[in-house]
Amino acid sequence: MVLVDYRGEVTISGAKNAAVAILPATLLVNGKCHLENVPDISDIRAIIKILKSLGSKVEYISDHELIIDNTGVNITTAPYDLTCKFRASYYLLGALIGKFGSAQISLPGGCNLGARPIDQHIKAFESLGATIGVKRGNVYASAPKDGLNATSIFLDVVSVGATINAILAATLAKGTSTIENCAKEPHVVDVANFLNSVGANIKGAGTDVIKVTGVKELNQNSSYAVIPDQIEAGTFMVAAAITKGNVLIKNCIPKHMEPITAKLQEAGAEVIEFEDTIRVSMDDTPRPINIKTMPYPGFPTDMQPQICTLIAMSKGTGMIIESIWDSRFQYTDELIKMGADITAHGRTAMVKGVDKLYGSPVGAHDLRAGAAMILAGLVAHGRTEIYDIYHIERGYENIVEKFKNLGAKIEFYRDPEACVKESGVSC
Ligand code: EPZ
Repeated sequence: MVLVDYRGEVTISGAKNAAVAILPATLLVNGKCHLENVPDISDIRAIIKILKSLGSKVEYISDHELIIDNTGVNITTAPYDLTCKFRASYYLLGALIGKFGSAQISLPGGCNLGARPIDQHIKAFESLGATIGVKRGNVYASAPKDGLNATSIFLDVVSVGATINAILAATLAKGTSTIENCAKEPHVVDVANFLNSVGANIKGAGTDVIKVTGVKELNQNSSYAVIPDQIEAGTFMVAAAITKGNVLIKNCIPKHMEPITAKLQEAGAEVIEFEDTIRVSMDDTPRPINIKTMPYPGFPTDMQPQICTLIAMSKGTGMIIESIWDSRFQYTDELIKMGADITAHGRTAMVKGVDKLYGSPVGAHDLRAGAAMILAGLVAHGRTEIYDIYHIERGYENIVEKFKNLGAKIEFYRDPEACVKESGVSC
């Protein structure tokens, strides 16, 4: 097998899952919002299209810096064709009912990871006094005439989306809302930090209990930089380890990487942390590791396919338990085509390490599955062709160039159908 020894450095972009919430959150703000470190990915382009359809003005100052002016927003119904395929469009509900008292979006679609209910979002909105209807694929939300009223919300499941949506809806509500059993992901904290930077009063983000004291209005005064993407950084960490490379990963937050760092160290990688940089290197074949995906600070489900690829090349057998999504092992069939030895059943996968993977045509079932195919392709013997790469482009900025700069032999063949799908399904 030809193992390419990847060396060099890569700069991580802004966090997709923070930015897809912060852009809708700007709807709550009077005046202009200046955002930096916004990733240049198709999910963001799709959100911008939706915001513009509502009346927002969006001006790019540079590739990653933009000004959003929502003073002209006069529509609260988001176009069905744009929102139905876009998972994070559910953040429009929280922001629009919080600010304008009404919202209509299609039932959010998204990556095919199994059931993706929004009952906890609806529960949070209803607790705040909103009326929610779901009819013919659309969700309708309206607030009482005098606005939403603060309340106590206990989320039955730890949900990133429901936690952020509850915060969005409570930010301008009357009184203090308490949200319990919250998700603690870095992107939840980033959304709260953004809102606090424009005048919101949100305490406890990053813990189980968040308190939101409603304020009369939000006003942007300075710019806000989105945090670096935890999952993109994690993907490059695994890339360094699986290729027995040595890569400096810049613009990341080492604290956010801890669940991934710990597992890579267990597999035998050396991980050195600096202030906003991590160096990952690996000399030997990985040791097998066991993974159970969990809400933050547990091991992220969005790193499950990538770490599976590493285990597939290990000396031994590892086990993966997926505890967030019902159906996140579909990509294993693609790895098996490449020679991996994986038995996946329900939410569990047994991964026996093999000496070699072989290049073959494979599909990117979803965003992170696509990233896993790239990782497998880096170490596979021969040529790997990855189809449906529009999934990958939704969440990884400039991924081909970034891998090329590290020494990978990777080319991007744009096919016209992929372009058509570009603003399509989202995670
Ligand atoms: C976010 O999805 C991310 N997407 C996903 O990332 C990520 O996999 C997921 O969080 C878990 O970390 C965005 O941030 C846009 P959840 P989200 O609500 O918010 C159940 C990627 O690759 N649940 O935290 O939709 C749900 O079924 C994507 O970037 C309910 O039962 O996920 C799941 O089992 C893929 N009712 C669990 O909670 C609800 O109302 C966690 O889901 C909501 C969720």
